[in-house]
Amino acid sequence: MLRKFYVLVCIVGVGFLLTYVTTVPSGESQSETASTRPASTRYEQRARSRDGIGKIYMGREISQVMGHQGADWLERPEREREEMPNRLVELLKLKEGDVVADIGIGTGYIARRISPKIGATGIVYGVEIQQEMLDILAENMAEEGITNIKGILGTITDPKLPPNSVDLAIMVDVYHEFSHPYEMMQNICRGLKTGGRVVFVEYRLEDDKVPIKRLHKMSELQVIKEATPHPLSWVETLDDLPWQHVIIFEKVATE
Ligand SMILES: C[S@@+](CC[C@H](N)C(=O)[O-])C[C@H]1O[C@@H](n2cnc3c(N)ncnc32)[C@H](O)[C@@H]1O
Repeated sequence: MLRKFYVLVCIVGVGFLLTYVTTVPSGESQSETASTRPASTRYEQRARSRDGIGKIYMGREISQVMGHQGADWLERPEREREEMPNRLVELLKLKEGDVVADIGIGTGYIARRISPKIGATGIVYGVEIQQEMLDILAENMAEEGITNIKGILGTITDPKLPPNSVDLAIMVDVYHEFSHPYEMMQNICRGLKTGGRVVFVEYRLEDDKVPIKRLHKMSELQVIKEATPHPLSWVETLDDLPWQHVIIFEKVATE
């Protein structure tokens, strides 16, 4: 009897939690969500913590951007073991001819592994806000003879993707750095085809053993919450990688 009651309480609790996180972001009323509130009140400002910028979005402090001076860290040999980038690319199930947007491409560590999967008829739009990263990307591409990645210098609010053109947009260790996550996601969604996928790859906040700074990690629930204002439907979360969530959404038709 007591066991039945316990199971019932758990079911109701999980149901409530799911409804809550997918409909009402914390600290916001039902009539006023991130998509409806005026841009000036979308973010809050507080004293900044270590590694943060003091700007709060949906209860999360945004982290500082990793500078191009840290480019060598992105190419560190142990990253193969820590992140299994080839396994990540396999999980994306890309095909020849796909149009991919690698937002926050950095040195091209992931995009260079995506390149052979989509072939000469496909393209990777490699978006960055740091020209220095795009310069390093160009050097790496020339060294490896890669021609199907096109660097794009975006802004902090706009990745400047051609509208309705992208099959898959991926952000590897990037989203938590966006100074304007709402605006970036709006514009990424504009660039996606209907049915196109957006993939967040973030270090798992839920796992204390992942040795990454607090603001550079995200929980699965927080990512899902921040996707809620956008025309995105959650597809699946894959936890095949040693340290990172792979959280996949699909763009839904808006009209
Ligand atoms: C930690 S690095 C990750 C690079 C790459 N994705 C990788 O995994 O190797 C984050 C990158 O995101 C870029 N970034 C941050 N905000 C951005 C924005 N709004 N648009 C495009 N790139 C951005 C930074 O300049 C930086 O190069």
